Amino acid sequence: MAMNVLMAYRISSSKCLTICLGVTFIMGCFLASLPIQTDYEALPKPIRYGISARTQAKKNLAIVVPFRDRFEELLEFVPHMYQFLKKQNIPFHIFIIQQKDNNRFNRASLINVGFLYTKKDYDYIAMHDVDLLPLNDNLKYEYPESGPLHISSPQTHPKYHYDTFIGGILLIKKEHFEMVKGMSNNYWGWGLEDDEFYVRLRDAGLTVHRPENINTGTENTFKHVHDRTYRKRDTRKCFNQREVTRRRDRVTGLHDVSYEIDNTHSVTIDSLPITVINVRLICNKTVTPWCQCSEPVKTKKVK
Ligand SMILES: *[C@@H]1O[C@H](CO)[C@@H](O)[C@H](O)[C@H]1NC(C)=O
Repeated sequence: MAMNVLMAYRISSSKCLTICLGVTFIMGCFLASLPIQTDYEALPKPIRYGISARTQAKKNLAIVVPFRDRFEELLEFVPHMYQFLKKQNIPFHIFIIQQKDNNRFNRASLINVGFLYTKKDYDYIAMHDVDLLPLNDNLKYEYPESGPLHISSPQTHPKYHYDTFIGGILLIKKEHFEMVKGMSNNYWGWGLEDDEFYVRLRDAGLTVHRPENINTGTENTFKHVHDRTYRKRDTRKCFNQREVTRRRDRVTGLHDVSYEIDNTHSVTIDSLPITVINVRLICNKTVTPWCQCSEPVKTKKVK
C-alpha cells in the first residue's frame, strides 16, 4: 500500500513537472512573440561608420536643420554632410525640421522642436543652416563637452563677423541646451534669435568655443549656397516686435514651444537617409502678434 502511494506520487509528480515545463515553454513562446512596447516612436539609428570599439563609444549627433522652401539647398546639403562627417567618424543623423504653418519662419522654435524630438537618442545637436557647407576638414563636429562649439566663427563665416555671432552652425550638448531652456520662441521672421541665444549662454556662464587650427578664411572655409533666383529675407518688423526682440527673453523656451507634428518622413537623397519632420508652430497672437505681418516682404534690389 505504502509503496503504491509512493509510486502514484512519483508518477503524478513527474507528470506535473512535464506539464509545468510545457506550459512554461508555451508561455515563453507567446511572450517572445509579442511586440516590444515603447512609449515613443522609434528614431533612426545614427549612422555609424566602422564598428570599432572607439566608434561605438562615441556620442551621437543629431543635425537639426530648421527648414522651409529650400529644396535645392537640401539636395546639396545632405550628400555634402555625409561626405564631410564620414571622414570624422561621427555617428550622426540629419533631421529636417520643416515649418508647415502660415506664420513667419521661426528658426529658434524649430530648433527647440528638433531638440525635443531627438533628445532621447542623441547626446548633442548641431543647429545647422542648410545653406552653409563646411569645407575645411579641421572643422571638427566633436562632442562639445565643455561648452557650445561655434563651427561658423566670425573669422570664417562668409557674412557675419561680429565677436558675439553664434549663428550658422552651433554644436551644443543636451545638458547645456536644457540648462539655458533652449531658445526663445518669440523670434518670428529673420534674425536676432541667435544673438538672444548668445546672451542665454553667457548668463548661464557657458563659454562658446571656436575651432582651432583653421587656416582658411571667410572665402574658403564654407560654401555659402545661394539660390539662383534672388531670395528675399523676411526682415519686416511689425507691432512691437523691434522692442521685444531686442531684449533678453526670460520667459519662453524649450518648456513652452507650442507646436504639432503633422507627420514625419524617412527620405533618402542619393540613397542617404534623412528624416523630415513636418511641424506646425502655434502662435499666441496675444504674446507675439508679429508672427504674421500684413505688409508684404520687401524685395531688395538685385545688384
Ligand atoms: C496666450 O497668452 C496669454 C498671455 O500669456 C494667455 O492668457 C492666453 O491664454 C494664451 N492663449 C492661448 C490660446 O494659449
